[in-house]
Amino acid sequence: MADEVVLAYSGGLDTSVAIKWLIERYGMQVITLTADIGGVRDLPAIREKALGIGAVNALTVDAKEVFVNSFIFPALQANAIYEGQYPLATALARPLIAKLLVDVAKKEGANAIAHGGTGKGNDQVRFDVSIAALAPELKILAPAREWGMTREGTITYAQEHGIPVPITVANPYSIDENLWGRSIECGVLEDPWIEPPEEVFTWTKPVRETPDEPSYVEIGFDTGIPVSLNGKELDGVSLIQQLNQLAGEYGVGRIDHLENRLVGIKSREVYEAPAATVLLKAHQALEAMTLSRSQLRFKEKVATEYADLIYNGLWFSALRDDIAAYVSSSQRFVSGTVKVKLHKGNCLVVGRKSPVSLYSYSLATYDKGDIFDQSASPGFIHIWGLPVRLQAQVQLQKEKTKEE
Ligand code: ARG
Repeated sequence: MADEVVLAYSGGLDTSVAIKWLIERYGMQVITLTADIGGVRDLPAIREKALGIGAVNALTVDAKEVFVNSFIFPALQANAIYEGQYPLATALARPLIAKLLVDVAKKEGANAIAHGGTGKGNDQVRFDVSIAALAPELKILAPAREWGMTREGTITYAQEHGIPVPITVANPYSIDENLWGRSIECGVLEDPWIEPPEEVFTWTKPVRETPDEPSYVEIGFDTGIPVSLNGKELDGVSLIQQLNQLAGEYGVGRIDHLENRLVGIKSREVYEAPAATVLLKAHQALEAMTLSRSQLRFKEKVATEYADLIYNGLWFSALRDDIAAYVSSSQRFVSGTVKVKLHKGNCLVVGRKSPVSLYSYSLATYDKGDIFDQSASPGFIHIWGLPVRLQAQVQLQKEKTKEE
């Protein structure tokens, strides 16, 4: 019997060509797996397409809920943003897809897994490392990494093998999308000087087409997890979907990032991430109210480490478990409501409240009701400034006289 391989299948051109290629080149039986994590539209059509090309079986799975609860929300609680810009939509999805592929491979008794990652990208790393961590016995195939076809070559191969080439292939961009965001690469975007043309954006309106009046949204959080929009309780998937829609209408969430890939390449990445942009801002605003200064400072360092780890494909590592435990503990008082204003491409936090707020009006106010003991400040400053005064006298002032 021929070897069986489970292929991560998006329905796009590259992974469609991969089905045929795995059959022709390796004589394998191909089972495709398509996960709906918020970017896929027509699962039945994708299934039909896979079978039409020659897959022996085409599976689909709705993984939106797991994606949100086990990947997106832990990243949100951590404020994980790569290089201060990228909310990690693709990077968070890869370990989940790897897990789903491994589960199917085990169930079906397949001995290999295939994915569409190229040899220059981050995705190959995320897939390979995750699969190896979960099932070291499985062989990993990455057709696009092996075949070395150009875009034109891929199209020719598809045409020669009766694989439908969608008209959108005239579109030169490489796109990946899920609930947490959409990424656009290639084409004219490879010139970092050229402003992304309007045609690359589909989730966000250009500012000139956005409403003149702002929209206010109140986001309720429970232990760092968003649970309501404008007072209405929502499950995570619906909340993110609604916020993508709404913030996108106001032109919020466009990102233009010159990014450092793990493989050493700098690459120009354009993203649309309306919900992620709003939720990350709102979450940080609530943390500013409910965490101490030292918690905030420490957590900021953890956020950078966590974002790098996610970006670099190390989700299934012991360090990720450790960081996740810390982040989860850090969120136990991060509950309350944040008010954001969406207007002309901007998302501004304009209000926050929490039953466990550390903001104390009577300490902060300059009006009557002030309980802050100002007479204690000179003593505090005397001790606080002690090392600076000492060093200034012993070293810095002498340095100055020497210079003169
Ligand atoms: N640069 C982003 C990342 O590495 C997006 C990658 C998009 N992947 C894709 N196959 N189009 O996470």
